[in-house]
Amino acid sequence: MKIKKQFLFIIAILVLVIGCKQASEVTPTKPVTLRNVYEDAFYIGTALNTFQIDETDSIMAGIVGREFSSITAENEMKSIQIHPARDTFNFEYPDKFVALGEKYNMFIHGHTLVWHSQLSPWIRNIKDSTEMAEALESHIKTIVSRYKGRVNSWDVVNEALNEDGSLRKSVFLEVMGEDYLALAFKWTSEIDPKADLYYNDYNMANPEKRQGAIRLVKNIMDKGIKVDGIGMQGHWHLNTPSLEEIEKSIVEYAALGVKVAITELDISVLPNPEDLVGAEITQNFQNSEAMNPYTKGMPDSIQVKLANRYTDIFKIFLKHKDKISRVTFWGVNDGQSWLNGFPVRGRTNHPLLFDRELKPKSAYDSIIALKQKQDKQSN
Ligand code: XIL
Repeated sequence: MKIKKQFLFIIAILVLVIGCKQASEVTPTKPVTLRNVYEDAFYIGTALNTFQIDETDSIMAGIVGREFSSITAENEMKSIQIHPARDTFNFEYPDKFVALGEKYNMFIHGHTLVWHSQLSPWIRNIKDSTEMAEALESHIKTIVSRYKGRVNSWDVVNEALNEDGSLRKSVFLEVMGEDYLALAFKWTSEIDPKADLYYNDYNMANPEKRQGAIRLVKNIMDKGIKVDGIGMQGHWHLNTPSLEEIEKSIVEYAALGVKVAITELDISVLPNPEDLVGAEITQNFQNSEAMNPYTKGMPDSIQVKLANRYTDIFKIFLKHKDKISRVTFWGVNDGQSWLNGFPVRGRTNHPLLFDRELKPKSAYDSIIALKQKQDKQSN
């Protein structure tokens, strides 16, 4: 009798243990990270520099792998890096970058095929339209073939517009005329028809530029050539652009039947030089104490402002999550941000979600809390 009781007791324990194990296999609790919390809304991405692609710092590497579901190479796929001379390609870092994205099961974005900045001198110096077309076609086709089926989307053309919505007088426009735009999309889709093809630019919430972007994309589509998405870079400030213009842009771009991505999000907390026109990377202004007020860290008041600004912007993104494919931050942490050197060199900016010690900031907590609150309400 005593033995039977003991036997039943052991069976009961076993049933309990197996039951618990199965339950935890069915509904694993995922850690609270940006990537997991936003999983059902859109990809959350970051830009990576060579140091991050190498995964030299294990804390940084951990953050990238846990927090983000998409990556963009900050510089390594730009023509001057990847194709510095007609017969020279540097694929070492682009290859590592793509392998890293695959390791973490990420959506991999290619940046950028046709851009007037960080442009290889051998392309910049071409004066003949046939030669330019051949150069662009072989540049695009070589790179896109190499990563076919692995790079999921491309910024095919970057920053082709002026602020008034007219076409920028880039070397491509001057030498080839407007045709370069449609041809770039055509050549890319010929090689990888499954990749999503984007037009990407800054100040895309400004009404005049918005109209220009809509015209540009429509013109390409009218030729029967596909454009899958519009990228709004999102190099924004604490007070500008207005939430209304951001929302209007998302809605109007999506009305073209394309996806909208926020491709390079960062919010500068520093004063802005008056003549600055957006993210034109050749602009540079004089540094001074007044232009660089937070060298010893960000005051609490600004920390709160930044968190509120990110929350307001993410409310719009979530409201339009059916239109938005991806929101990518232009970097992981403040120490790494290009905004420490642009548009004024040598400043201490605080535009991202992780600080210089790689600690998540209030902005990070607010964005997570916003989504969790919305999830609770909809359950
Ligand atoms: C920036 C990089 O972050 C910097 O490291 C580099 O020195 C200059 O370019 N728009 C773009 C990005 O499309 O490629 C730019 O990136 C920022 C503006």
